[in-house]
Order: sequence, then C-alpha cells, then structure tokens
Amino acid sequence: MRKKVSIVGSGNVGATAAHWIASKELADVVLIDIIEGVPQGKGLDLLEAMPIEKRDSFVMGTNDYKDTANSDIVVVTAGIPRKPGMSRDDLLNTNYNIMKAVVGEVVKYSPNCILIIVSNPLDAMAQTAYKLSGFPRERVIGMAGVLDSARFRTFIADELKVSVENVTAFVLGGHGDTMVPLARYSTVAGIPITELIAPERLAQLVQRTRDGGAEIVKYLKTGSAYYAPSAATTEMVEAILKDKKKILPCTVYLQGEYGVNGLFIGVPVKLGAKGIEQIIQIKLTAEEQAAVNKSAAAVKELVGVIGV
Ligand code: NAI
Ligand code: 2OP
Repeated sequence: MRKKVSIVGSGNVGATAAHWIASKELADVVLIDIIEGVPQGKGLDLLEAMPIEKRDSFVMGTNDYKDTANSDIVVVTAGIPRKPGMSRDDLLNTNYNIMKAVVGEVVKYSPNCILIIVSNPLDAMAQTAYKLSGFPRERVIGMAGVLDSARFRTFIADELKVSVENVTAFVLGGHGDTMVPLARYSTVAGIPITELIAPERLAQLVQRTRDGGAEIVKYLKTGSAYYAPSAATTEMVEAILKDKKKILPCTVYLQGEYGVNGLFIGVPVKLGAKGIEQIIQIKLTAEEQAAVNKSAAAVKELVGVIGV
C-alpha cells in the first residue's frame, strides 16, 4: 500500500514540501489549510504535473481533516512566518494557538502517525505538539538541524570550492540565534574543517549559518525561506518512510541526554520507520557543552511563556 503524508499549512513551505515529496514518489500527499481553495488548487496543480514527472503520487488539497485520516506522517507548517525585523520568537503566541488547533485534529484522524513539526519558533512548537498530542517522544520530531546544517554545508563547500556532497556538518541546539554549529564534527571528505579553514574565517561561516534564516528574510521581505526548509523536511520524510536509519540532526525531546531534561532541542538522531530510533550522544568540549546549555536555556524561557 502507498504511504500517506499529510501537510498542514499549504503555504510556501507546505506546498513546496508537497512538490518535493510527490516528485520523488515518496508517498501520496494531502495538503490541508484553513484557507478555502488554496490547498485544493495547489494539490490539483501538483497532481496534474505527475504525468510529466512520470510519478504516480496522488496529491490532493482539502480543508477537512477527515481527508488526512491514517496518515503515516503529518508535517505541520501551519503558522505565520517572520518578516524583516522579526525574530522566530516573535511568532510564539500566534503559532502556539494555531498549533493547539491543529494537533487535536491530527491526533483524532491519524493517532499512529509520526509528527514532523516545522512551524516556528521551532523548538517551542515541537514541545507544544509533543505535550498536546500525548504521542511518545519517538513520534514527534522538529525540523531545524537538517536545514541549519545544509546552510553550513553550503557555505563550507563554497569557501573550499568542493562538492557539497563531500561536506558533512552538524548544527546542534535550538533553532535560533543560539544554535550551535559544531565545526569540530564537520568534515570535507572525512577531513575536519578545522584543518582546512582558518579559525577567523570559520567563525564568519558559523555566524552566517546562525543568521541564515534572517539573510533570506531580508531579501524576501514578505516571508521566510522555503526551498531549503522543505527539502530538509523531505529528507526526514524519506528517511522515515524508507526506514533508512539515517543519522540527521533533529529537534527531539531530551530526557537527560546532553545534560538537558524535559526540553526539545536539536541533536543527532537515527531516523527510521519508528521515527527517532536512537539519540546519538557525541562528546562535547566544555565550550561546546556551554553553548548547548545556553541554547537550551533560551528554549526553556520560551516554553515557559506558553507553559508547555
Ligand atoms: P506561509 O504563510 O507561506 O504558510 C503558512 C500557512 O499556514 C498559510 O497558508 C496559512 O493559511 C496556514 N495556516 C494558518 N493557520 C492554520 C491553521 N490553523 N490550520 C491550517 N493551516 C493554517 O508560511 P511558510 O513560509 O510556509 O512558513 C510556515 C511556518 O514554518 C512559519 O511558522 C515559519 O516560520 C516556519 N518555518 C520554519 C522553518 C524551520 O527551520 N523549522 C523553516 C522555514 C519556515
Ligand atoms: C529559517 O531558518 C525561518 O526558521 C526559518 O529560514
């Protein structure tokens, strides 16, 4: 039987994720939104692209959660994006209320799904979805690290003029200004980048990664990034649907790992058919651990405001 992925929010990230997922023939896709007509129109438009793409993915749009029933994965992109001058945290209260409305419906119709949360502020929204869904932590995963690492990989590949395929990178912590790009664990064909890029230049690439979301918002003015975010979401969807056991940085509920308890932040995990199949613990220096602690404190402050 074909796999089914529902995407809540058929805006920029949601519709573009639907595009990647359908064109890779990973699953049938249901787009859902509160705006009438938009998910239906985008869904039908995508469906009509399938004969050209030679893919048999079925795509539809709806305003009715019944159509999302029995999804294997539900991706939540519903919410407002940021505009120039806004931080991800400025979206907190609006997106919390949206998340509350969405999660109840998702759980009602797809009680066994894996939830991938994209809406910002990401760590706090993932924690909201986890608390409201009652799902085990293995089935609630936030998307941020794959995107932030992809940005870091892009900048490293460009700096060294090597293929992006040669570059691996890890970004830990919250999806905000305190995120922790881990240079020591980032490599080019297995060579640590600390041996290839001078410390001052590396610090600039790390800062550009931290500012990666804001850099795009500054250009777009009316919204935030969506091609790389939806590609990152699709990589997570693929790892789960194909049971790839792929190690990716994802935002997950920590219960003591990395010295963090009862909070969603980004760490390396193994993604497979069950969702989070393992949290990978890597050794951090005192300085790296302090940066993770600082990032966790920022997330804790946010979740404290909404009480989740
Ligand atoms: P967008 O404005 O293009 O789309 C959001 C969609 O959500 C709209 O179509 C809107 O009608 C819909 N929506 C609002 N309330 C809803 C509800 N109750 N039920 C169903 N749909 C609802 O925004 P975009 O660019 O797609 O971004 C979506 C969210 O993802 C934002 O919060 C943004 O900050 C976040 N984001 C997170 C990233 C990450 O790395 N985690 C990366 C990029 C975006
Ligand atoms: C980004 O990093 C807005 O969180 C989003 O592009």
